[in-house]
Amino acid sequence: MRVHYVSSSCFEHLRACRTSPALPSMSLGEGIRILIGGQQTTLGSKAAIANATPGKEISEPDLQFLQSLRPDLSLSELKAHALQNYAKGMSAGALKYNCFLKLYYLLPAITDHTLYRSLLARPSKGLFLDLGGGQGTDARKLCQDGYPAGQVVVSDISPFLWEVGLDLFQDGPEGPVRFVEANILNSADMAPGGALHSFLGSVDVLYAQAVLHLFTADTMKAYILAAMPLLKPGCLFLGANASSDPPGSFDVSEGSKLSDAPFLQSPSSFKAVFEELGFLDVKVEVSEFKDFLRRRGFSKDIWDIDMATPFGDGKRKLQWITWSATKPTGLCRPP
Ligand SMILES: C[S@@+](CC[C@H](N)C(=O)[O-])C[C@H]1O[C@@H](n2cnc3c(N)ncnc32)[C@H](O)[C@@H]1O
Repeated sequence: MRVHYVSSSCFEHLRACRTSPALPSMSLGEGIRILIGGQQTTLGSKAAIANATPGKEISEPDLQFLQSLRPDLSLSELKAHALQNYAKGMSAGALKYNCFLKLYYLLPAITDHTLYRSLLARPSKGLFLDLGGGQGTDARKLCQDGYPAGQVVVSDISPFLWEVGLDLFQDGPEGPVRFVEANILNSADMAPGGALHSFLGSVDVLYAQAVLHLFTADTMKAYILAAMPLLKPGCLFLGANASSDPPGSFDVSEGSKLSDAPFLQSPSSFKAVFEELGFLDVKVEVSEFKDFLRRRGFSKDIWDIDMATPFGDGKRKLQWITWSATKPTGLCRPP
């Protein structure tokens, strides 16, 4: 059976995610029908979503990270709380990305980046902006490892995700760092009075983890271009995301329109996009997607299933890239 489930919180970013067979333990009732991109998609009922089982067991490393933020709580309390938090996030429609369904946000990913240690070792730690920072997992890890919390900001189009993070990590009513709700693709958010205006030209490290693979090729370029003025000249944009070799659409299954489907760049086409936009010293490191999943504690079952679609014919390889690029000190080239 092929099931699509709701991919929206406040419907700002409707996207149909394919769950079957990627989430074998998830049973969703059918019954609600909604128009997504002009096509009808079957969704699980709210109640069924709220009872959904995550597509991954909560692992020891997940629990250890949760406990590092709340050492006063036991592992079993933290596990029960994380499951409750997942159910709440699902029923609110906040956990709309496929990776969230697999509890990806429980474990920081930033530690995987080659430049992570050197960021922490910098004598002067300037403003770090996590653009599309979701629940704030990486921002919390960064602060825990010594980056000054006052220099870390998480921004996201969805304030619901930040709230899911506040509830999950239970580390204070407002969390350890500042959160700014903004849509990087909305020019009003950059304009005077806009949520990100005061950050223009003041960011030392811009970070986008698991974000740039969400978009079509044109939208990905627009995202990078919109983000570029936030950075100080000579400063770093870094992150990680899925890629495909050769490049191609990620999901062209029923329920998503080909023209709207996320587009996965290959490592070399990804690098070319940054270079075309004028970034310097663009570095892209590639891992097989299954190695990335293994590092994150996913079971073999999950990575086998993930590899089966839409890359199952072996003609395309699903990969994970970590990357960095430097904003030039001169004027940016127009797109
Ligand atoms: C797959 S999640 C990754 C979240 C987080 N970086 C992580 O690794 O757990 C993608 C994030 O990008 C955010 N996002 C998508 N489009 C955005 C936009 N136009 N402006 C700002 N954030 C956006 C989503 O709300 C979501 O939090």
